[in-house]
Amino acid sequence: MSAGEFRIAVLASGTGSNLQAILDTLHGGPEGIVVVAVASNKPDVPALERARRAGVPTAAFALDEYPDRPARDAAMADWIAGHDVRLVVLAGYMHLLTRTFLGRFQHAIVNVHPSLLPAFPGIHPVDDALAAGVRVFGVTVHFIDEGVDTGPIILQRALELPHARSSADVLERLHPIEHELLPDAIRLIAAGKAQIDPANPRRVLLEP
Ligand code: GRF
Repeated sequence: MSAGEFRIAVLASGTGSNLQAILDTLHGGPEGIVVVAVASNKPDVPALERARRAGVPTAAFALDEYPDRPARDAAMADWIAGHDVRLVVLAGYMHLLTRTFLGRFQHAIVNVHPSLLPAFPGIHPVDDALAAGVRVFGVTVHFIDEGVDTGPIILQRALELPHARSSADVLERLHPIEHELLPDAIRLIAAGKAQIDPANPRRVLLEP
């Protein structure tokens, strides 16, 4: 490990386009941010293949190989902590993390979510937004807490799509925003410019 490195782990369950954006725009760059570990709850996902292509160590922690979810999360936390990371990035990681995991990386886990939180938390945010008839969609990057998509918000960006009809169309427009916003948030954290407000732990103080 070299001095000044900001070591991150990424958890992903699927395609891994957000992981790819991190690898392409941050990994090994001038900010000192290095992806040192990528883990998944599924062994055969493209995200792991993307990590391997970039030469990043990978591991899969399938739930059915452990007695329960806390046991799986403990094993995954051990593996990640063994890589001495400062931040865990959830980039399309589709399992809820138990306290076992959260307690190991306090205020050091971030997530990207395709809605303007606190609107539309959960696993079908774009379908829910369409069903509610909204005309403004968006992306949120937030710290993780024990709730579902409830942690302190770091960055958000809105997108007006007044004629949106299908979630596939909306997601296609939101993905490029995710691919900018998630790396931007990681950059801010690595630079010490995104801190939880001690006076109001719901808020994140951002430095320009
Ligand atoms: C993204 O839309 C992200 O917001 C959500 O899961 C999706 C992951 O996409 N949490 P990818 O695997 O990064 O392509």
